[in-house]
Amino acid sequence: MTVVTFVSHEGEKHVVPLEEGQSLMRIAVNNAVPGIDADCGGEAACGTCHVIVDPQWSEQVGLSGASEEEMLAICPERLPTSRLSCQMTASADWDGLVVQVPEFQM
Ligand code: FES
Repeated sequence: MTVVTFVSHEGEKHVVPLEEGQSLMRIAVNNAVPGIDADCGGEAACGTCHVIVDPQWSEQVGLSGASEEEMLAICPERLPTSRLSCQMTASADWDGLVVQVPEFQM
């Protein structure tokens, strides 16, 4: 089974199945991962799906797009590997991906 791990700011890990083709936000919501509220439903308009990609995975998952960047610019705790999980479409080769959920969202 392919998995993705969401890590809270306190270090609590939520290991959930990685559903290829789904957004990382939808995977988190479907598995009740704390801190991923996704208030706008995936329109890159709320920032409540912000995750910080483990630096060793940042190249593989890719960079944020222009509209995503606009939203990330106003997200607290934004870091160089920040992404909006609603704008990340899970790929089978992401097995083992690790992302952190910012403290602000907990
Ligand atoms: Fe709103 Fe991702 S769900 S920005």
